[in-house]
Amino acid sequence: MKRSDFPSDFTWGTATSAYQIEGAVAEDGRGVSIWDTFSHTPGKTRGGDTGDVACDHYHRYLEDIALMKELGVNAYRFSVAWPRVLPEGRGRVNEKGLGFYDRLVDALLAQGITPWATLYHWDLPQPLEDQGGWPVRETAYAFAEYADLLTRRLGDRVRHWITLNEPWCSAHLGYLAGVHAPGKRDLSLAVRAAHHLLLAHGLAVPLIRQNAPGARVGLTLNLSPGHPASPHPADIAAARRFDGFQNRWYLDPLFGFGYPKDVLALYGQAAPPVQEGDLAVIATPTDFLGVNYYSRTVVREGSEEPYRFQYVRVGEERTAMDWEVYPEGLLELLRRLWREYRPGAIYITENGAAYPDAVGEDGEVRDLERIHYLQRHLAQCLTALQEGVPLRGYFVWSLLDNFEWAEGYSKRFGLVHVDFATQRRRLKESGRWWQGFLREAVRL
Ligand code: FCB
Repeated sequence: MKRSDFPSDFTWGTATSAYQIEGAVAEDGRGVSIWDTFSHTPGKTRGGDTGDVACDHYHRYLEDIALMKELGVNAYRFSVAWPRVLPEGRGRVNEKGLGFYDRLVDALLAQGITPWATLYHWDLPQPLEDQGGWPVRETAYAFAEYADLLTRRLGDRVRHWITLNEPWCSAHLGYLAGVHAPGKRDLSLAVRAAHHLLLAHGLAVPLIRQNAPGARVGLTLNLSPGHPASPHPADIAAARRFDGFQNRWYLDPLFGFGYPKDVLALYGQAAPPVQEGDLAVIATPTDFLGVNYYSRTVVREGSEEPYRFQYVRVGEERTAMDWEVYPEGLLELLRRLWREYRPGAIYITENGAAYPDAVGEDGEVRDLERIHYLQRHLAQCLTALQEGVPLRGYFVWSLLDNFEWAEGYSKRFGLVHVDFATQRRRLKESGRWWQGFLREAVRL
């Protein structure tokens, strides 16, 4: 498999997010986000790690762009920290925060790297959480104002916009499982949060289009094929419930089918507060669907309400996150998305793996498993393309080792190794492989 097997206009990128790499949390007027609060709450992240310094990208962004240039990517997916530009979440604009993204975008463009901006990658301004967070409807309007501000400022240069990253994580991990910020555990809060996130997305799309004419707009979901642990009908039904919970709850309304009836039935009293017109807003047409794929999910029947499935650990080959390596799931997912939802275009906005990378005595990081992981997933992408799936790009998660949320700095996903004590960056073997892969078909 070679780069030249893919279309010549294919997007090849790396991805990051603001809280995971920027650091500089108290600089230049940045406000507090729910992740600052959460990570500073004892017991919430591994080892009490926080994003206070992270990769210090706020100060080292030029060095990081130079690394991207060295890798040879033609696109970079980053996210904007909402509290950096609107410290209270709405209202007062922080010019210095906007200035950072201005400089970042200009520096990317100067290197011929196309900026892909994600508006929301989980760092809700704390003042908005204090007013109820995503479970309250007002937060969707606050997001629309923020999207308006950002695209007015950057819309002349940023032509690719992702509204939300993985609303399932914001809603489910943040408000039901409680393992991500803001750490709540309440089904009805989570369902309301999911609805307002989708609403926020739909409200933002026309504003982005208005402020950045001709720009391409989409959102990113974390999708995972759900497989039953056995052919037993009870397990098959459990896999269907998982699919409703993880995939269809987001895909169906976004593509105009409304919320899936089987999942609504499970929620009963906890059904989302849908107002007239909301579903039309959520189904506002977009230009692409962003897909983050890491693995499939195997489940069996369980007893915990409302979903009544249990995760089953399968597969010999697993990453440091303990996620199964299952490249075939990516092809299965792409086929299904194309068959059932017909998105105008699909981008893999994240794919990658954590391994316990160590720097050898010679200074090298020999992460051969990561290379193998990426190669096998790319091969599935190629098959999907050959079958006619409109796959237009692929972003590796991640450019740099970074703050992996509740796992802190213990899980390394980068093509570039970061020594967090010194901030030294080193291209891993996988980074060199990616560079070689991308160089192969560069037209000079
Ligand atoms: C995704 C997140 C990203 C990163 C990867 C490993 O769910 O979008 O920020 O943490 O997982």
